[in-house]
Amino acid sequence: MKGRVFSGARPTGKQHIGNYLGAIQSYVKLQQDYDCIYCIVDIHALTTLEDTHLLKENTREMMLDWLAAGLDPEKSILFIQSHVPEVMELHTLLSMVTPLGWLLRVATFKEKVKLQPHNVNYGLVGYPVLMTADIVLYKADTIPVGEDQLPHLEMARDIVRRFTYLFGEVFPEPKAKLTTFPMVIGLDGERKMSKSCDNDVELAASPEETTQRIRTAFTDPARQYRNDPGHPEVCNIYSLHHFYNPDRLDEIATQCRGAAIGCVDCKNILAEGVNRDLAPFRERRAEIAQRPGYVDEVFADGARRAHVIAKETIKEVKEKMGLP
Ligand code: TRP
Repeated sequence: MKGRVFSGARPTGKQHIGNYLGAIQSYVKLQQDYDCIYCIVDIHALTTLEDTHLLKENTREMMLDWLAAGLDPEKSILFIQSHVPEVMELHTLLSMVTPLGWLLRVATFKEKVKLQPHNVNYGLVGYPVLMTADIVLYKADTIPVGEDQLPHLEMARDIVRRFTYLFGEVFPEPKAKLTTFPMVIGLDGERKMSKSCDNDVELAASPEETTQRIRTAFTDPARQYRNDPGHPEVCNIYSLHHFYNPDRLDEIATQCRGAAIGCVDCKNILAEGVNRDLAPFRERRAEIAQRPGYVDEVFADGARRAHVIAKETIKEVKEKMGLP
């Protein structure tokens, strides 16, 4: 039997090339060998209460990117977390077997407390429990995530083991499958590419916007003037050439070192590469976006199929826990 993949992503809106190279590309590939369930986790987004008025739009934009990138609603279940409310039921039940001490020790929780001391809500503490509920509600065994999510996956396994010990076996132990791509650094050349750092290149941007955006990027700090020799190995633009101009790496490195090209030229070469690579994606996205009602249908169908599995699991869990 095929393994079952589950992954969730917070509804951050239009996706960027870092999301694509990191997560989306592996989601697409996994569809060949697994039954896949991909979920936009809108309830998790509420733990930080930022931009909740954008949740609807962000969810749609994100799904458009997923679909255009090749996530296939005929193969995979694509849905919105809150559309299958059983996850909240399971979250409550799992919270009874999760020692509070475990949750207070999670590194991401401690970070959030520092980041939003004015909003240390109960849901924030339970974030890993809700994430565990996501995974085990669908009895998923394979969880593609980035390295930053490994502590949450460890917690999920601990909760599953404790549940099994107390009530018997219902859930498989979920295993992380690292999305192995190297971390994509943002245009600031410092931090991981992310929308919130405003250092990203959106997949759905126009070619002109992409070129403009890439022109704002930081490059090798030692190259102050056009004729200064460059150091491709420390330049983030050069690291992006690995993905978008893999055939021209040596040529670009030599020209940069010898100052035969300046940073502006180099950025233009990158922008051309990105635009070439994303052209088919952008065409598909525009086509999908103008089909009336299509994205809503994908969500409705995904929720229907997810619900069938969720109902069964909840029934089993309640029986095991002795609920009358
Ligand atoms: N916490 C994950 C993140 O921030 C999102 C997420 C929620 C998730 N539920 C999940 C990931 C279940 C994998 C499986 O990226």
